Amino acid sequence: MSHEKSKSPLWHGRFSEGPDAEAVAFETSIHVDTRMALDDIRGSVAHAGMLGKSGIIPASESELIVGELRKIAADLEAGAIEIDTGAEDIHSFVEGVLTDRLGDVGRKVHTGRSRNDQIALDERLYLKRAVPELRLAVVSLVKTLVGIASAHTETLLSGYTHLQRAQPVTLAHHLTAWCWMLERDHGRLGDALNRLDRMPLGSGALAGSGLPLDRAAVASELGFAELTRNSLDAVADRDYCLELASALSILMTHLSRFCEEVVIWSTEEFKFIDLSEKWSTGSSIMPQKKNPDFAELIRGRTGKVYGNLIALLTMMKALPLSYDRDMQEDKESLFSAYDTALSSVRVFTYMIGTAKWNVERMASSCTGGHANATDLADYLVRKGMPFRTAHAVAAGVVRECIDSGVSDMVDLPFERFSTHSPLIETDVYAHLTPRACVSARDLPGGPHPSRVAEQIAELEAFVRANG
Ligand code: ARG
Repeated sequence: MSHEKSKSPLWHGRFSEGPDAEAVAFETSIHVDTRMALDDIRGSVAHAGMLGKSGIIPASESELIVGELRKIAADLEAGAIEIDTGAEDIHSFVEGVLTDRLGDVGRKVHTGRSRNDQIALDERLYLKRAVPELRLAVVSLVKTLVGIASAHTETLLSGYTHLQRAQPVTLAHHLTAWCWMLERDHGRLGDALNRLDRMPLGSGALAGSGLPLDRAAVASELGFAELTRNSLDAVADRDYCLELASALSILMTHLSRFCEEVVIWSTEEFKFIDLSEKWSTGSSIMPQKKNPDFAELIRGRTGKVYGNLIALLTMMKALPLSYDRDMQEDKESLFSAYDTALSSVRVFTYMIGTAKWNVERMASSCTGGHANATDLADYLVRKGMPFRTAHAVAAGVVRECIDSGVSDMVDLPFERFSTHSPLIETDVYAHLTPRACVSARDLPGGPHPSRVAEQIAELEAFVRANG
């Protein structure tokens, strides 16, 4: 079949037989590529413009191609044309439309280019605009959390280890912990972006091109910081996908853990947080229920993002250089991970930003669990007792409280308290209130309100610089 008879620019004289419908359906990636349509056209505009300026094709033809590509982009944006889902991929679709409209001139756009370097370009162009959107969403989540934290530097909350009450902290201290994890997620996404900021066109199918392509001009027109250094590497690797999917997986891990906490904290048993009705769901059978479904869905979808990462790693692990068609599958996994992370960050931000915090319940979590036992030990250490001895004395006090049904050692009468050590004086009680426990911990990074205020200031600066 000659090319005139076919819509696809890939259908040519080498083949005497056409693929059947099932084969076409099997190999197509057009449904996944759709979101890169404008990136694909942008890349072709830069490439075709360069072909003209470098004298590889006549300037007049280069202008025709560039003009028509811009019209195709406008037509797509306006909905005047639709992406033909019968096309193999986005590259062949765009080239097919261009050739339909311009005839032989359109057939010059692919000069010195392969779909192998073209897809490496399109993905990078897409990610260079998509990833910043996700980074902004992360910043806005940090902003929301910092806003809540600022109002709660004095709000007492039990800190937990092993989900057992451990030592008193504040809600602000707790929330800023999540902020730092998100700040690092933001950094990881930025690192990935910096590393993928290299322009691959000119790598051809694998071995570059014999035509005098001006790679630097294309890179600068498309806003790339640098050129890829090796044509084989440029078409063969997808480590930017792996790196992003890893960063997305870590981000989802953070969100998922936070969601787990939201689920626990919104139970009747904890009741630290009251999710807004807008960001909760009801039950089809139990009329009283208000369920934290959004937190659960984010937690659940985290598994999907891990799956995407594993799919990508597995897809790449045995591929000989250079391009292999397996790599076409990268987009489905990467886009799925990206979409899941973006919607999760957004939904989490709304959910947490509209929740109410039950200050009394959180404060009451600091009493009754002997969360001040470490502070009793520290009190004795300050009076010269070796820490191990102090730990044993405090443990003895806890034991006595448990045996005598005293739920907090501040309620233990002094005559009994003092039997545990001659170093225990009546001032001990002042050191054992939850607020005293928090105030005592004023090292950098600690829960003392002024230390948390320092963190908040730093996080606010991060938000200002990146929002
Ligand atoms: N659609 C392909 C991909 O996403 C790019 C085309 C390369 N195909 C080829 N047969 N060399 O990877």
